[in-house]
Amino acid sequence: MMARPDAFLSRLERFGSIESTQPVVREWLEAGVPEVAVAVADEQTMGRGRQGRGWSAPPGTALLASAGFRPQNIQLGHAWRLAAIVALAMADAAEEVAGLKDATIWLKWPNDLVADAPDGRLVKLAGVLGESTSDGASGLVTTAIIGIGINADWPAGAFPPELRDSMTSLRELLGGRPIDRDALLDAWLARLEPRYEALRDGHFDAGGWTARQRTTGHGVEVDTGGSILTGTGVGVDPESGALLVRGRDGATQPVGSGEVVRCRVMTGNLSWR
Ligand code: BTN
Repeated sequence: MMARPDAFLSRLERFGSIESTQPVVREWLEAGVPEVAVAVADEQTMGRGRQGRGWSAPPGTALLASAGFRPQNIQLGHAWRLAAIVALAMADAAEEVAGLKDATIWLKWPNDLVADAPDGRLVKLAGVLGESTSDGASGLVTTAIIGIGINADWPAGAFPPELRDSMTSLRELLGGRPIDRDALLDAWLARLEPRYEALRDGHFDAGGWTARQRTTGHGVEVDTGGSILTGTGVGVDPESGALLVRGRDGATQPVGSGEVVRCRVMTGNLSWR
């Protein structure tokens, strides 16, 4: 199916089983499709995650989508903001479609959507993968493909055993109630549009991005690509996109790339819904 459903989207195509939505959108952009072009799959046989990892979900249990942009005025150093707005739009959409309380869904830097487990661990609900190209001369992003996979209608009984303790789904956050992935897709696109228009106009929702960060105020261990930095998350830098970690020596260090491998929140007020 191919459609031009509104002025925001140039193309929205749904697939059954494909390798990955990322190369589909890459090919579209290379063929000259205007922005914003979105591919959605029921199943990916070679889904891609960050840092060379895979990403898989049983057919029909997750919303798996990639959005292709041609932003024109975003500096390469701000390309991460495209991934951030995709994640923020999905966090808002998921809370609304699932009828969850505000602040049930958080971000774990850089762009994971997470929820609190009853014991204070963070469990992953969604991941975001950003790929961009730039025009070397101008230093601007020319194209970007932002993929997001959110565990939607996936019952815990079908979680892979090795991930059972570290993942969740919207269905589980709702105590087993089914989730409508089409409604989630529509809600996500509706929230992405104003966020993208603002970004194109030079406005990034730094406050919203900062407020969603679950690591702020909590102990973290961050794999910075070889070494582990242990400290307290003290925020994020909306200019560089870095995670800010105060180490044991009291100094705050910006982490530009890496992965939060451990974070436990102790609020005394943890619940699933
Ligand atoms: C992560 O490692 O957390 C990022 C996962 C990104 C997965 C999504 S699913 C839709 C899109 N297509 C892919 O192959 N990957 C992204």
